[in-house]
Amino acid sequence: MNTAQRASPGDTDAAAQALLHEYITGRRSPRNYLDRPVDRATLLSLVEAARRAASAANMQPCNFIVASKQDERAWERMFQSWAGGAALLMVVVATMKVMTPKQEEFTLPTSQYDTGLAMGNLTVQAMALGLMLRNMAGIDRERIREVYAIPPTYEPICGVALGWPAPPDSLPESRRDFELEAQERRPLNSFVFGDSWGQPAPFL
Ligand SMILES: Cc1cc2nc3c(=O)[nH]c(=O)nc-3n(C[C@H](O)[C@H](O)[C@H](O)COP(=O)(O)O)c2cc1C
Repeated sequence: MNTAQRASPGDTDAAAQALLHEYITGRRSPRNYLDRPVDRATLLSLVEAARRAASAANMQPCNFIVASKQDERAWERMFQSWAGGAALLMVVVATMKVMTPKQEEFTLPTSQYDTGLAMGNLTVQAMALGLMLRNMAGIDRERIREVYAIPPTYEPICGVALGWPAPPDSLPESRRDFELEAQERRPLNSFVFGDSWGQPAPFL
């Protein structure tokens, strides 16, 4: 894993950088994947990791629709231009509303946050197994809702392309550099505050 190229901006010191796990420093959002399937145990471990995430009141509002390239019908239904060569395509669907015992509709205030936490778990588990993923907001939500008959109290949040990343040196040079380019990150002092909003935290 090439961590050097994925380093964050130089506003954390070397001691802090050294503490980062390679699942964090080595993560990227590939566009190119090997033509290699994801076996059942691996796939199960990914959704199991997502299931173990924290969620408000343990409501677990994260749902998945998963299509494997090996399953032609599923692939065809989910196929979008964002698929690339990934082995799996997923749509992450959040439960937005539930019924209370009194049969009243209750809007879950943190369902998108909880869903992100579950995807964080899945992402780390994927990294641990050598898989990577690219989230894709550019999905046709209405089409997905229709194709999969998703009820109105659920919201398709994001598409995900997941697979075994193609080794960067297998890519043409122009795309290799683009693929491995370190992504810009906001300076810490622009989002980690102390005394008041906008005041950088003293530990920075
Ligand atoms: C919720 C979400 C939606 C995204 N949607 C897209 C997308 O529609 N198309 C795309 O090419 N990348 C998409 N990305 C990938 C981001 O562009 C990428 O994570 C960001 O540039 C940082 O790069 P890195 O993940 O390689 O560090 C998305 C990422 C997230 C978390």
